[in-house]
Amino acid sequence: MAVRKIIRMGHPMLRAPARSLEPDEIGSDAMHRLVADMIDTLHDYGGIGLAAPQIAEPIRLAIVELPGGPSRYGDLPEVPLTAFVNPEIEVLDPTTAGYWEGCLSVPGLRGYVARPQHIRVRALNLAAEPIEMTFQGFPATVFQHEFDHLDGTLYVDRITDPSKLVFDEEFERYILPTETEQCAGASV
Ligand code: NI
Repeated sequence: MAVRKIIRMGHPMLRAPARSLEPDEIGSDAMHRLVADMIDTLHDYGGIGLAAPQIAEPIRLAIVELPGGPSRYGDLPEVPLTAFVNPEIEVLDPTTAGYWEGCLSVPGLRGYVARPQHIRVRALNLAAEPIEMTFQGFPATVFQHEFDHLDGTLYVDRITDPSKLVFDEEFERYILPTETEQCAGASV
């Protein structure tokens, strides 16, 4: 296991669509080692989600770990550390809400992005078994942000008001005090 380097915006691999994993790859030792590295990396950098392309592995694999409980985004359901292989998102309700998103590949910045708030996620787990979950609110935003990485998309692409791309320090100083909710504080 090892902490890997997270590549940053400007690295071409963050902009390349990742390839799907074949069934015989999913349970392999190499895959388990990679996921162990991704977990170490996520914990070391202090994020809530990490996609394989962010450590320069161009495959459709992401991990998410959301602490549940009361937060500034309301009472959140816990999403225990889970790996998602070849994930797909189905929007169940196109109504959007905005959050201030951060990204481990875009350090120091935060941007306001509106996304649908009710989605279904279908994926395979590390045993190549199908898993299916639905998410509402902030977790729905987290999964869309994370899986966008598999298509070479960054949250900055989805900011519709460019004045809402700010530095962390200015976010804390000028924006956070005015927001009652919908301030995503963690980087994915
Ligand atoms: Ni990200």
